[in-house]
Amino acid sequence: EKGTYPHFMLKEIDEQPPVIRKIIQEYQDDHDNIKLDPEVRKAMLDSDRVYIIAAGTSYHAGLVGKQFIEKLANVPVEVHIASEFSYNMPLLSEKPLFVFISQSGETADSRSVLVRIKELGHPSLTITNVPGSTLSREANYTLHLHAGPEIAVASTKAYTAQIAVLVILAVDTAQAKGINLEFDPLQELGIVASVMESLTDQKETFEKIAADFFTETRNAFYIGRGMDYFVVQEASLKLKEISYIQAEGFAGGELKHGTIALIEEGTPVIALSTQKNVNYSIRGNVQEVEARGAKTCIISIEGLEQDTDTFVIPHVHELLTPLASVVPMQLLAYYAALHRDCDVDKPRNLAKSVTVE
Ligand code: F6R
Repeated sequence: EKGTYPHFMLKEIDEQPPVIRKIIQEYQDDHDNIKLDPEVRKAMLDSDRVYIIAAGTSYHAGLVGKQFIEKLANVPVEVHIASEFSYNMPLLSEKPLFVFISQSGETADSRSVLVRIKELGHPSLTITNVPGSTLSREANYTLHLHAGPEIAVASTKAYTAQIAVLVILAVDTAQAKGINLEFDPLQELGIVASVMESLTDQKETFEKIAADFFTETRNAFYIGRGMDYFVVQEASLKLKEISYIQAEGFAGGELKHGTIALIEEGTPVIALSTQKNVNYSIRGNVQEVEARGAKTCIISIEGLEQDTDTFVIPHVHELLTPLASVVPMQLLAYYAALHRDCDVDKPRNLAKSVTVE
């Protein structure tokens, strides 16, 4: 039920802080340590390479998850779009572990990969919001997202839940390997939940930015580097699917290799800067597009901000920034769709779970 909310999407955006807290609770033992199915831990430890398979928003969560698993647990990861896997099947390592990320657990493109790799005898883990779903039943192991039903076609709380569970998976593997992490992941996730709350409390700010940037335009660009590049890809998908604005998320460094030709007088460009190592370069990209007439907006994070930034996200751990930075992006897409009179919860041509290949 929507309750007092005008749309499920808005309700689900607001549910993100409690979902993160629920995940912390579900994956925590009595001593505040991470609690994970020992079989999943063993599968991670036994594997020499993780292959993440997903579609759409879940694929975008996988791109972030790869960073966690590689940086924290030191296990190599490849992320593949499910529908491409059969044509562009990579050479597999000796001991692959396949990780399927799927809100619904019913995505046919992902399932066809699961069927194929099972024939090859490889182990599989499904990370899903629906434990009894096809992908969950057919894989060897399941991790539950605990996000509660997601009704709006545009995925929001499932994306952040997927990222949170991927952090837990990565940290658990790291700890099992005796790698010493210099932060308390569950505590940092708790901070993220509070920051998300402060963001969802500032809806008018994002409504205004959306009105200003997206009411009239036919196209829009998001730019980011490093971790932010993954989030801007998700930001542009959100905007596309519910507002029908032609949007693209670019890596800042790629602009000069072609895409900057698309910038005209008034083209909206939203830049995201939450990573210290790219803060300087992404701001350089903003100046480059501004010089060509773009209408720009910078969303940054506490500690890296400048006076002219449109919005500054409160501080969260640098690895966990996608959990916070995606919230303004979801709200921008939501209000863009609203201002353009689009059917927010049921965008044209889309289904919530895509059960055909
Ligand atoms: C976007 C969206 C889709 C899904 C994709 C995969 O907002 O909802 O891109 O993420 O269809 O669906 P699941 O995660 O159910 O496999």
